[in-house]
Amino acid sequence: MTLNTTHNTTDMPKTPSQKNTGVQAPDYIRNLTPYQSGKLISELAREKGLKRIVKLASNENPLGCSPLALKAVQESLNGAYRYVDPGAYELTTALSEYHGRPRKEIICGAGIDSLMSYIIAAFSDVDDEILTGEATFIGVFVNTKKCNRNIVTAPMKDYAYDLQAIVAAITPRTKIIYLANPNNPTGKMIPKVALDEFIEKVPQNILIILDEAYYNYACGDTNYPDGMKYRRENLIVTRTFSKDYGLAGLRVGYAVGPERLIKELYKIKLPFEPAHPAQSAAVAALGDTKFVEQTIQLNKSSMKQLTDGFDKLGLRYIKSHANFLLLILADEEQAADFAEECLNRGLILRHTKAFGAPCGVRINTGTSEDDIFALEVIETVWSLLKR
Ligand SMILES: Cc1ncc(COP(=O)(O)O)c(C=O)c1O
Repeated sequence: MTLNTTHNTTDMPKTPSQKNTGVQAPDYIRNLTPYQSGKLISELAREKGLKRIVKLASNENPLGCSPLALKAVQESLNGAYRYVDPGAYELTTALSEYHGRPRKEIICGAGIDSLMSYIIAAFSDVDDEILTGEATFIGVFVNTKKCNRNIVTAPMKDYAYDLQAIVAAITPRTKIIYLANPNNPTGKMIPKVALDEFIEKVPQNILIILDEAYYNYACGDTNYPDGMKYRRENLIVTRTFSKDYGLAGLRVGYAVGPERLIKELYKIKLPFEPAHPAQSAAVAALGDTKFVEQTIQLNKSSMKQLTDGFDKLGLRYIKSHANFLLLILADEEQAADFAEECLNRGLILRHTKAFGAPCGVRINTGTSEDDIFALEVIETVWSLLKR
């Protein structure tokens, strides 16, 4: 028997660049910094031994999970020994009915974050450009760099996307434009008229990702556009079960777009995500309109409670269409100190430097008790830091 040695290079002479330096990640991986999420409650408790900790840093649902979703998760666990359906038949069917879009236009994944990495990998090449606003969802920065693509940002205008500046920043290398509506961390909304105009101006060969993670919080405003109603060959809309449905820890989100594009995503999606309990929970949560209504109601009252408190303290914030508010401090140093001093007192907030808003600290809405505690801590911290 003769051995095929085509792939056997052990006898080849070593060039200087092949010196044994151990396994190395390519530069674009080595230059990444690991994602830092909002501080964990358990971590803070361990570090500081605080009696009370309130976390309003990750835009989670203060009501917890939909009870129907919880029940579905428990029931689904009996099937945990089986691999999941890669096409998430039940969930895509439920979403298809809910949005009036064919199943073939829908793909589910382990959250928008996961789907975003697939979209970037599928519709751009190494060194291509992903274009967005300067202050936006951290996930687009992380996923772009992870895929060795270039992130290009256009300046914001009054903490909202400057859509004209984004169009002006398009180059021959631009392959994707990312917009979150409402935007995180600023909470600003793109009105329908502005979005329509923008879509018309973007060349057909550039994919627009319209991220509607906070859709249900914003849709009460008559100027807010519903991405699901747009049928464009270069538009993918993303939504998540992490916020209003209270399933952040289960990791389930979905993308809706032209069948031709969704087909490409199925080629690279990890086949067995979302996990079975996540799929079952999402189907149940989608039907739990009562829970979503309670969530939106609580968000409204908490927004009022927080903004009334901030007005009293003379703290500046951006009017929000989501479930969080961006506080604007004097500069990056004051914002970092503000978040740190709140943390020391058991209130976890998010300094938004990594989101491209270095002077900002983001706080999400909570229960009335959460908000009372948050305002007490903030009053103390603000009295120390106010200049
Ligand atoms: C605009 C936006 N998109 C996506 C996500 C992440 O969603 P998921 O939990 O589905 O990955 C977030 C979470 O904060 C977000 O703010």
